[in-house]
Amino acid sequence: MKVDVQPGDIVACADECIVVNLFEGVAKPGGPTGAVDTALGGPIAEAVRLGDFRGKKGDVLWLRPAGKIPAKRVLVVGLGEKRGFGLDGVREASAKAAQAVRDARVRRFTTVVHGAGVGGLDVEDAAEAMAEGTILGAYQFDRFKTQREDIKVLDAVTILERERGKLRRVTAGAERGVVIAESVNLARDMANLPSNEKVPTALAGMALKAARDAKVKCVVLDDAKMRELGMGAVLGVARGSSQPPKFLVLEYEGRVGMKPVALIGKGITFDTGGISLKPQDSPLGPMYEMKHDMTGAAAVVATMCAAARLGLKVNLVGLAPLTENMPGGNAQKPGDVVTAFDGKTIEVLNTDAEGRLVLADALGYASKWEPQAMIDVATLTGAAIVALGRKCTAVFSNDRGLVRRLESAAKATGDRVWELPIWEDYDDLVKSDVADVKNVGGPTAGSIAGAVFLKKFVGNKPWMHLDIAGSCWIHGNETGIKKAYYPKGSSGVPVRILVQMLRDWNRGG
Ligand code: BES
Ligand code: MN
Ligand code: ZN
Repeated sequence: MKVDVQPGDIVACADECIVVNLFEGVAKPGGPTGAVDTALGGPIAEAVRLGDFRGKKGDVLWLRPAGKIPAKRVLVVGLGEKRGFGLDGVREASAKAAQAVRDARVRRFTTVVHGAGVGGLDVEDAAEAMAEGTILGAYQFDRFKTQREDIKVLDAVTILERERGKLRRVTAGAERGVVIAESVNLARDMANLPSNEKVPTALAGMALKAARDAKVKCVVLDDAKMRELGMGAVLGVARGSSQPPKFLVLEYEGRVGMKPVALIGKGITFDTGGISLKPQDSPLGPMYEMKHDMTGAAAVVATMCAAARLGLKVNLVGLAPLTENMPGGNAQKPGDVVTAFDGKTIEVLNTDAEGRLVLADALGYASKWEPQAMIDVATLTGAAIVALGRKCTAVFSNDRGLVRRLESAAKATGDRVWELPIWEDYDDLVKSDVADVKNVGGPTAGSIAGAVFLKKFVGNKPWMHLDIAGSCWIHGNETGIKKAYYPKGSSGVPVRILVQMLRDWNRGG
């Protein structure tokens, strides 16, 4: 979808559809909405008076101007209550408007900037949130739809700004919003893709292409190279699959001389559980959802691409082990012992706890870049969903500053993160009788067990682990995040949070 910014007055606009807005409880619309209402003879105020439209968040009102203004259709989108209205409200309203227009099979529209007038938001920030919300909300995974009637598309959106003096800032904001949302949608595309289309070799190919387009350096290590490096944990997981594993190494330099931040993503392109086979249906979901078990890797690729396209002043290294977790004849078995990159031995008591295995090698390998901080992203544990549900990301860290940076970034993007403890005595959970560590704890504190396992491989570097098992997927029901810019399927979390964190990085933690 194309987003552009034009000077002009919405009342005079001759587009297929124009979009204006209304706060809840406003009886007489003002600003551009008021101007449109007046030109049309007052149908918006009338709808409010009749109680047909209240400007509630997510409400929309369609009007047919019948020649009174040049536009063919008018959509009024509700902004909800003015109190507490912020950039996330702009994202939600923009997403809602985009969906309403698209679902009406109208292919383009022109809109005012929501929230910058009466809403009082900075116009550049609001424009960014608008472009972001529009592209995130209009996202749909329709690659495998072959019937025309099943496909609805939005081609283009024009953001109209009346004051010429604001045009440059509105354009700059919108351009950033486009980059961020397109990056999130890149991660969504990868995660939504069925696993037969994204075996490690194929997913690595997609990462290479995305990196090339964004001018990020990307190298793909093959299994021979991984053997040479001693990545016994990834190779152990990969043994059950007929597909060779791959290991992505991405690098972006935006600030010469800075020690990089390492982003590390779990890239299990399908998780059957291996020999510790998953059931067809577990209380947490059907097995087919395990196609999304590479969301961490996708988020790393997408975040690096966004950072490069935005020209962020940071250095980054991105690492992502890619493999299937399958129960093939050569698969690793419960009780097997493997040796990770850093030389530590791991007793694999449950082959379904494979994410922490592949991350063990990746966290160890990251030390090659002497990173100033390491952040891993993984659909790691069903226990994170049990503990926190699907409305937030679980966070674990050995560094207060990192968590503070994350929390402030999540606040800005409208996402939720919640920290869980990794007090030292939790280390007992992963003590093994035969090796240095075991890959499962017991029946309790499953997400913490996963985190303390990872902690064994980070040395003394500042590190943070994001368990996105709950937040990575939108089921479209009450269990998950309910926002118009999070349509069903892959959410793309935590790409926006990470990008925000990196935008703020040099401001200190
Ligand atoms: N990929 C799963 C975790 C998961 C479950 C993510 C549901 C999203 C939704 C992970 O590899 C896994 O299987 N974890 C096990 C760990 C256990 C064997 C210690 C789990 O959570 O059951
Ligand atoms: Mn698993
Ligand atoms: Zn998994």
